[in-house]
Amino acid sequence: MKTTIRTLFNKKEKGQKITMISTYDYLSAKLCEQVGIDCILVGDSLGMVFQGKDSTLEVTVEEMIYHTKAVRRGAKESFVIADMPFMSYQVSVEKAIENCGRLIKEGGANAVKLEGGEEIADLVYKLVRIGIPVVGHLGFTPQKINTIGGYRVVGREEEAERVKKDFKILEEAGAFMIVLEAMPTELAKELTQSARSITIGIGAGPYCHGQVLVFYDLVGLVEDIKPKFVRRYLNSAELFRKALEEFKRDVESGSFPSEEESYG
Ligand code: KIV
Repeated sequence: MKTTIRTLFNKKEKGQKITMISTYDYLSAKLCEQVGIDCILVGDSLGMVFQGKDSTLEVTVEEMIYHTKAVRRGAKESFVIADMPFMSYQVSVEKAIENCGRLIKEGGANAVKLEGGEEIADLVYKLVRIGIPVVGHLGFTPQKINTIGGYRVVGREEEAERVKKDFKILEEAGAFMIVLEAMPTELAKELTQSARSITIGIGAGPYCHGQVLVFYDLVGLVEDIKPKFVRRYLNSAELFRKALEEFKRDVESGSFPSEEESYG
């Protein structure tokens, strides 16, 4: 059965936690759907995790469409959210609507995610009225890495008021879900308690309506960085290395391919 916005709000109303995985390819999306993950985010973190770049800033609309299509092919029933890349929604409302529309029409996404608060409120309002569901993103917002000044918790002390204001503005504009990233637990708790929308945390403590992790962090394939909030459920990098070492050994020793692995 297809997961829709109604499925997600029903879970919220019943007090059931919502699960989200950020991933970028057909096979991992298929696994997410098989185990009943509620939402798949095609995150622009793919710029770092998949492409090996230093930030998310270079990701393009074409790349997001490519990855969203792949995820959709692997997860036909899941609620798929496409991240809008840096500068694809900041230049003008018209251009932003066109780009968001492409992620829905060409990529097959159910919703788009935009980083920011007050500065994107008009756009959020228009997208929702047009029929494009919007997920907001507050706290640490990676597309503002240069103004934030590196990876850090956002929303301590006087910054908390700004986050609260942006949260309210996003909800009023019509965002149905808001990702809270790298934010003090108490702030995320306060926002969640009075939220009309669904809050999804990543480094925002346990009180959000749901949680998101990046697939490749969760399975332990990302080895160089491990933020405090990442829980590794598997050491797949080690398993992959072992498999590759064995393959290398087998080819070099001549034991691969065997007769059964060859055509007569
Ligand atoms: O790009 C991404 O994967 C994200 C999540 C970490 C929330 O924005």
